[in-house]
Amino acid sequence: MRLTGKRAIVTGGSTGIGAAVAERFLAEGARVSVWCRNPKNAEAIAADLPALSHVAAVDVADAPGVDLAFAQSVSAMGGIDTLICNAGISIRRNFVDIDREEFDRVMKVNVHGVFYVSQLAARHMLAQDKGGAILMTASTSAVTAYRHYADYNASKGALLAMMRTMAIELAPKIRVNAVNPGYTMTPMQEAEYSPEMLARVNGIIPMGRHARPEELASLYVYLASDEAAYASGGVFTLDGAESVASGAATL
Ligand SMILES: NC(=O)c1ccc[n+]([C@@H]2O[C@H](COP(=O)([O-])OP(=O)(O)OC[C@H]3O[C@@H](n4cnc5c(N)ncnc54)[C@H](O)[C@@H]3O)[C@@H](O)[C@H]2O)c1
Repeated sequence: MRLTGKRAIVTGGSTGIGAAVAERFLAEGARVSVWCRNPKNAEAIAADLPALSHVAAVDVADAPGVDLAFAQSVSAMGGIDTLICNAGISIRRNFVDIDREEFDRVMKVNVHGVFYVSQLAARHMLAQDKGGAILMTASTSAVTAYRHYADYNASKGALLAMMRTMAIELAPKIRVNAVNPGYTMTPMQEAEYSPEMLARVNGIIPMGRHARPEELASLYVYLASDEAAYASGGVFTLDGAESVASGAATL
């Protein structure tokens, strides 16, 4: 029970990494409010995890919707001291083929959305004695070029820059950190792979496999807990050594 007494919002918490984080936070004693985009997913996660304090179907790119969901989460949990900005989208497209609307949408969700929620959370946490912790799900794509994802890569790079600035401005009351997952086997990712594609991707990861969402959740538990009291401004990579491997590593 490493998170007893913590009250956490998890955006993008109905599926994949976010759902694993929400489940694990509950198991570690936290109160949790899950946010997700799709009302059907909101119903499903509320049924799967009845211990959740609150579930919101909200678009993080919609500032008024974020304001409302934030107020509801705070009211349902009696406050907030932990924010997990995990909602994110990607669209696979060559750089020259990216539509301007698609680019805008990726930025709106992945960058503006994090800004909207974390600014509200930071103001709230600064005003309370115990401060808080803000965690962002960035990606190895913030530091490594992945083909077909120029917009997504740019959005995750922006998150790291924002996180670093927040960490220095909000210290010592609020700790701010980013997690860079590598290839993680979420249901959506699994559905995209043919067996051949999966084998090819696993072949470039020195650990030989994708991460499991539960493995990411363990890192989030640590970073949200008081054990991580000195961790701020950090980028925590969990990628099975993929991003330190050069092309030669696959020979
Ligand atoms: N799976 C991977 O390999 C991988 C690798 C690196 C980083 N990530 C990042 O991890 C995070 C979680 O992704 P995942 O792999 O679990 O995929 P996922 O698609 O299962 O989760 C994404 C979540 O974001 C939510 N979301 C999307 N748009 C939203 C919006 N506008 N408003 C509110 N919520 C919205 C969805 O409801 C969903 O719960 C994302 O930020 C993603 O970029 C994933």
